[in-house]
Amino acid sequence: MILVTGGAGFIGGNFVLDWLAQSDEPVINLDKLTYAGNLDTLNSLDGDARHIFVRADIGDRELITKLLAEHQPRAVINFAAESHVDRSISGPGEFIQTNVVGTFNLLEAVRGYWSVLPAEQKDAFRFLHVSTDEVYGSLELNDPAFREDNNYEPNSPYSASKAASDHLVRAWHHTYGLPVLTTNCSNNYGPYHFPEKLIPLVILNALAGKPLPIYGDGMQIRDWLYVKDHCSAIRRVLEAGKPGETYNVGGWNEKPNIDVVKTICAILDQLKPRADGKPYVEQITYVTDRPGHDRRYAIDATKLERELGWKPAETFETGIRKTVQWYLDSQDWVQNVTSGSYREWVSKQYGA
Ligand code: NAD
Ligand code: TYD
Repeated sequence: MILVTGGAGFIGGNFVLDWLAQSDEPVINLDKLTYAGNLDTLNSLDGDARHIFVRADIGDRELITKLLAEHQPRAVINFAAESHVDRSISGPGEFIQTNVVGTFNLLEAVRGYWSVLPAEQKDAFRFLHVSTDEVYGSLELNDPAFREDNNYEPNSPYSASKAASDHLVRAWHHTYGLPVLTTNCSNNYGPYHFPEKLIPLVILNALAGKPLPIYGDGMQIRDWLYVKDHCSAIRRVLEAGKPGETYNVGGWNEKPNIDVVKTICAILDQLKPRADGKPYVEQITYVTDRPGHDRRYAIDATKLERELGWKPAETFETGIRKTVQWYLDSQDWVQNVTSGSYREWVSKQYGA
C-alpha cells in the first residue's frame, strides 16, 4: 500500500480518486482537515476497504511512526501543505509550521521506518514530495521556462516555505540516503479546487453575480495544468523516477490571468447564460495587487517527457471547459465548502 498525506485537499483528493480508479493497491490517507481539506471529495470511497482515512498532522511524528509500522507502505506521497499565497501573506506562521516543520517531522518518521526495512523493501521504498514551480521565483516575459537546474528564488512566504521543504527532502537523500523524488508543478485547476484560488473563485463568483477580482493589471502569467495530468505525472515519477532527482511538471499552457478569466466568462456565456442576457465579463473588477506578486511562471517539462515519457492529456481549452462544467454539475460539493471558514476568508480578503 501507499501512504498519501493531504489526500482530502484539491490535488491529493484527485490523486486518491484516480489511484483507486486504476489500481487495487490500498491508500492510507493522512490529512489534518484544515479549512482546505474536505472529506466530501472522497464520498465515492465510502465503505471502500482500500481507502483508510486518518485525521492527523504531518508534524505528529509519533503517530506517523506508528502508522508506518502498522501498515508498512511501499511509498509515502506528501501533498499536505498550506497552499494559498494570499493566506501566506496575511498569516505566514502556519506555512512555516506545516510546510517546513511538518515536512521535517514527516521525513524523520519516514527515515526511522525506512532505515530498518529489509534490504529489498528498503531499495524499493520511495518518498515523493509534491512541490511547486513557485520556488524558482518570477520570470521576465522573454526568459526561458523554469528547468530543474534553475536557482531557487522564492518570493512569497508560501514559496519560501515550500522551497525550505524541498531543501529538507534533498538533504535527507544526500545525507541519509532516503530514496526521495521531488516534483515541481505549475498551477493546477480542475474538479474539487477550493474556491479561494483564481479559477474556482471566478466560476463561482460569476454564477453568484459577484465581482470577478483581478489583481493589478491582470497581465501576470501562470502556466496551467489540469489536475488529472498532474496526478498522472506523479504516478509516473513514483513508478520510474530516479531517487534524488527532481522533475518539473507542466502543460505548456502559459496564460495571462485576464485571458483565463475572459475564457471562463465565455464558456459560462454558452453553458449558463446570465438571466439578463449580458456577458459575464461585465463582472470583471480590477482590485489592488497582491504584495510582491510574481509576474510570470512557466515550466519546462522536457525532462519528464524525455526521461519518463509523460505527456499531459488536456490542453487548457479542453481542461477549462471540463472544469466549468464540473462546477455547474457539483452544486452540493460547492455548497458544503463555501460555508463557514470560506465566508470568513472572502470577507477578510475582499471585504474592503
Ligand atoms: P490544498 O490546500 O487544496 O490541500 C492541502 C491539504 O493538506 C488539505 O487537505 C489540508 O487539510 C492538508 N493539510 C494541511 N496542513 C496539514 C498538516 N499539517 N498535516 C496534514 N494535512 C495537512 O492544496 P493543493 O492545491 O491540493 O496542493 C497540494 C500540494 O501540491 C501542496 O504541497 C502544494 O504546495 C502543491 N502544489 C499545488 C499546486 C496548485 O496549483 N494547487 C501546484 C503545484 C504544487
Ligand atoms: P492563485 O490561484 O492564488 O495561485 P498562485 O498565486 O499560487 O499562482 O492565483 C493565480 C493568479 O491569479 C495569481 O497571479 C493571482 C491572481 N488572482 C487574481 O487576480 N484574483 C484573485 O482573486 C485571486 C485569488 C488570484
